[in-house]
Formats: sequence, structure tokens, C-alpha cells
Amino acid sequence: MQIPRLHPDTIEEVKQRADIVDVISEHVVLRKRGKDFVGLCPFHDEKTPSFSVSPSKQMYYCFGCGAGGNTIKFLMDLGKRAFSEVVLELARRYQVQVQTLEPEQRQELQRQLSLREQLYEIMAIAAQFYQYTLRHAQGQSAQTYLQSERQLSQETIQQFGLGYAPVGWETLYRYLVIDKQKPAQLVEQAGLILPRKTGDGYYDRFRDRLMIPIHDIQGRVIGFGGRSLGDEQPKYLNSPETELFSKGKVLFAIDRAKTAISQQDRAVVVEGYFDAIALHAVGITNVVASLGTALSLDQVRQLLRYTESKQLVFNFDADAAGTKASIRAIGEIANLAYRGEVQLRILNLPEGKDADEFLRHGNVEQYRQLLLDAPLWLDWQIQQLLAGKDLKQANQSQQIVVAMVKLLSQITDDNQLTHYIQYCAELLSQGDSRLVPLLADNLLNQVVRQWALPNQDDSRAAPLLIQRRLQQHRPKPRPAHQHAKRVEAAVKPTSTLPVAPERDLLKTAEALLLRIYLHCPEQRQGVINALQERDLEFSLSHHRFLWQQILALGALQEIQVDLISSLQNWCLESEGQLDQVFYLFHLDEKTQQDILRAPLIIQAAAASMERVMCEKRYRHFLELWEKTDPATEPEQAEFYYQSFSKERRRLQKLDLERQFSPADLV
Ligand code: UTP
Ligand code: MN
Repeated sequence: MQIPRLHPDTIEEVKQRADIVDVISEHVVLRKRGKDFVGLCPFHDEKTPSFSVSPSKQMYYCFGCGAGGNTIKFLMDLGKRAFSEVVLELARRYQVQVQTLEPEQRQELQRQLSLREQLYEIMAIAAQFYQYTLRHAQGQSAQTYLQSERQLSQETIQQFGLGYAPVGWETLYRYLVIDKQKPAQLVEQAGLILPRKTGDGYYDRFRDRLMIPIHDIQGRVIGFGGRSLGDEQPKYLNSPETELFSKGKVLFAIDRAKTAISQQDRAVVVEGYFDAIALHAVGITNVVASLGTALSLDQVRQLLRYTESKQLVFNFDADAAGTKASIRAIGEIANLAYRGEVQLRILNLPEGKDADEFLRHGNVEQYRQLLLDAPLWLDWQIQQLLAGKDLKQANQSQQIVVAMVKLLSQITDDNQLTHYIQYCAELLSQGDSRLVPLLADNLLNQVVRQWALPNQDDSRAAPLLIQRRLQQHRPKPRPAHQHAKRVEAAVKPTSTLPVAPERDLLKTAEALLLRIYLHCPEQRQGVINALQERDLEFSLSHHRFLWQQILALGALQEIQVDLISSLQNWCLESEGQLDQVFYLFHLDEKTQQDILRAPLIIQAAAASMERVMCEKRYRHFLELWEKTDPATEPEQAEFYYQSFSKERRRLQKLDLERQFSPADLV
């Protein structure tokens, strides 16, 4: 479309009417801070909000990238659109009369604007027509359906403007086109009638259906959903995409829900028309329906404008299709939730019921309570991973860990990531708190690995926690005088992962191995193998002494009681020096569990120990290499380079191995 030059008055009026907060909040999640609003800047990549919008100045400004301007500038920059295109769109949205500098172009513009106005009118008349037929003889079956099957009161039927589309082929057509003199072409554009294939005349799209009008935020009818009264397919016939109606953008009942949403600071999304209607009917009014499609970003943003703390509850049918379908239904909110920008909760009603069915049994108070208790989305997903699974079964717990890592690696908010790693580690520990740090560390390492994979979109987008770990692995660039090629080789991103060389972690891992060795004779060979395969030694001195003593006693041949009691004697003789290992001789309820899961624990503990060692050697050689000038000591430099590269490769291999090894299981 050739865009005409707009009259300055029009531009001025658009600026006055189009509120900047209103416009920007459709694209950016805004939070109120003082008298301004803040959010994540859409013009550059950021984690903490530096984008601020001032309603009093009608301006925005980003402290991060310096982007700034008024409403029109915002839309131009965001959509890379021309000035007049943006002004025209805003004029249409805020019903500003458009004047152009060239009078002849004005007509064309007016025509476009008035098309929408005419369509609104046609939709409104159609809605009245359907309501009328519902109240009269032809609508009897629909009335019965609403009252007995849906148990809706006349008041609710009225409030939602429910109606009935009669059986005939041309009833609405005749009413609108012949009686009301509306142009057939426009009625067709409104999606209400279709041209006959034979080319002569039109027929009604909706016939013998219960009609549910769909309103926009301002309460104008923009489309219909038509429910069949029997088994005819489709169950719901909806308006097609029209100038006014777009299924992916509307939220059913938003006009009736918006006030309650902002009062309660929380929006509930259900899947079906009748779920929303049933909830409103019992006084739960902060509810909209998504019309059975996945929620689009557009829809979510509409909702978020009304809830300051960005709280959404998604109440979808937890039917046989299960979690997958649910996750799909969440659609694009997922990313907002991972970034911590939406507090998304999931409500699944008992027995896979939808809200409408649930309420028909009179469970209003129970519904309110379930709404309050709905778990946060991530918690819900984690619960789904564990549902019906047995962590004690090796293959099941392996699947769970893999799925957990996949889930965790999508979280891009630091606090959330820390929280959920801890939470998952606790679940996996099955009540054994000593294992939690070890498990948490294993999870974190695997998540870092995910982020380090080459196909990960952009590791800069990773949470700080992950970024820090990734960086620990990228050697610092060498001083300028040194050989550039080698610097490049060394600095190349690696997928090796660091383990915090925490003494606690080592201590736990070593103690686990020793305890299993002492108390579980049939696992002794396993412990020895794990240590030998990985060329490991105990690093804490008292553990090392104990191990030497065990080997000295020829422990392999001894029976359990003898080994422990001779070691105890030996400890006592050491006059206090070995008190620190004494606790290993006892088994309590928790450590008993370690024994039950011995093979898994052995692998996990050994893998953790090896990483710590490998990491240390890697750093050591890297440091030496950095200090060595290859110009004067080429052989030394080469040796250090080879050494740290070898360790790095080993770390890489170890991580790969750990991904598939039983180490994942604890
Ligand atoms: P459901 O199939 O879950 O139905 O569709 P429901 O809402 O429980 O329907 P009732 O209670 O049997 O009447 C959920 C929503 O998906 C859309 C509708 O908006 C429906 O409310 N849908 C479903 C369609 O648009 N077309 C269909 O054929 C089916
Ligand atoms: Mn239903």
C-alpha cells in the first residue's frame, strides 16, 4: 500500500491517544517501579532490566544500550517499519480520524478504517440474532442443552450473550443481507456466510449450533465459537481468520476477566469456552480461555498487562495425552518462565477433569483451594518426571537424570537454577542429605556440559553460574610475545567442565568409597576396579592412611568383621591421629542405603574424584605453560602445552562418559 503523507494534526492526536505503557507492554513485560515501568530491553540482549518507560513523559529509555524515544519511535524500531505505517496503525487502534495532506488519498484511508467499523456492526447484529433465536421456539433444544447438560442459569447465558444458530441454510444470510441490507460481501468478510460453490448466492457458516460470541478487550464481538448440540463434527466450529478475528490472538472472556485479573494480580487460563463460563458463573472471574490452541506470546502479553507480579495459572486438561500435550499448550510462555519473567503455575484437576466438569459437581471451594496450591511450572515438570518412576531402578533413574538435566539447562535465571539444582539433588538423594552436595555438583556439571555443546544457541545467554563455570575452562590469552597460533589453540572453547575442587566434595566421595569397601565385601572388587581404572588415590591424608592400612591387611581375603575390628585396633593404636576415620566403621540408617546402591555410588564417587584430580593437573600445567616463554625454552613450553592439553582431553572424555555412565544415577 502506498502510504500517504499524514496531516500533522493526525500525528499529534495519535501521540496523545496512544499510551506508551499500553503500547510497549504488548511487546515487553513491564513491572512498575516507582512512577515508571521497567523491563528487559527488546533492542539488546540483557538479563536484568535496564529498559525504562515513563508514563508521565511518554518516553522510553534503555540505560543499557541507549535506545530511547516515544511510542512511535518504539514501534518503528521494533518492527523496522516506516513512520506513517506506524502512525496509521495506531490511528486505527485508537480510533483517530486520519487526515492526509493530499485530500484524494483520504477517501481510501477512510474506507479502510470504516471497513472494520462495518464489520463490528455486522458481528453485533449477528450476535443479537443468535441470542434472539435461542430465546424462541427454534432454540428450544439449545436451551435444554444449556440448562440440563451445562447447568447454566439464565443470568449467565445472558451475560455471555450465548445464542443459537438455526437449522436452515440461509437464515442469518436473509436476516443480515435482505432484511438489514448489509452487503453480502461484507458479511462474508465477517466470516458468517460462504459463497455457494455453484456461484449463485450464499449459505450460513453456522447452522444448528450453540453460539458463543467472542469479544475483544473492549467488549466488541469479533468472532464466534459454535458448539454442535449432538455428535456432529467438528465439536466446535469457530469463526475463520478475519479482519477482526485471529484465533491465535484472542483470549475468550478477556473483556469480563480483566478487572478481576488486575484486582487479584493473577490470571487463570483454561482451555475451553465452557470452562471459562462455568468459572465465571461461580464467581471465579479472573479467568480466560485459550480456545484450545497453544498460548501465543501475544496472548500472554495481553494477560500480563493486567497482572503486576506476572502470575499465571494454567488449568489445562490433564488427560491421557499427558505432560507432552500440556507442555505444548504452554507454548511460548515456556521461555518467559525459564527467564523468570512469568510466575507460571499449573493446575491439574483430579481425574483429568476440565474445570466445567469439575464444577458441575459443586466443588467451588475445592477449586479455589487447588488454585492456591497449584505448583510452579518447573516444580510441576519435575514432579511429572518422577511420577510413577522408581529411583532405585537403575534405568529409570538414569532416564530421570537425563530429563532433569535437559530441563535444568533451559533455565536462564541464576537464582532459579541454583534453587532447582538443589531441589533435584534433594529428590535424587532420597532423603540422604550427605549426598546432596555431590548430586548437586554432578547435576551442575552436566548442565554446564549442555550449555557447552556446540549447538547451544548462545552460551552468553547462560545464567551467570554456568558462564562462570564455562569460563574457568577457557585459558587466559597469553602475553603478546608468545606464539599466536598456540594461544589460539589453547584458548579455543573447550567442552571440558570444571569441578569446584572443593574439599567437601572430595571428602564425601572418598568416604563413600571407603565405607562401601568396609561394609560391603561383595563390592570390594568394584571399589578397587574403579580406583585402578581411573588411576585414583585418596587425597585426604587420613583417608589415604586408612586405605594403605586396608591394603596392608590384605583386606580382600578377610571377612568383614575381622577387617573392621583390626582397623579399629589400628586406629586406636595411632593415638588420636586417626580419629577422623572412625565414623566410617559405623553404619546408620542412611549409610545403609549407600550400601544398597553401591555400584552406582562407586561410579559416581570415583568419577567425582577423578574430575577433581584431572582439573588440578590441568590448571597446574596451564599455569606453568603461561609462565614459560617458548622463544627461550621451547621444549619446556611444548611439554607443558602437551600436558595440559592431555588433561583437557581427559576432562572432555570424562564428561562424555559421565553423561552415560551410572554416575548420573546418584
Ligand atoms: P475440548 O475438546 O477440551 O472441549 O476443547 P471442551 O471445552 O471441554 O468442550 P465441551 O465441554 O466438550 O464442550 C477445548 C477448546 O478447544 C477449542 C474450543 O475452544 C474448546 O472450548 N476447540 C475444541 C475447537 O476450537 N474446535 C474443536 O473442534 C474442539
Ligand atoms: Mn468440557
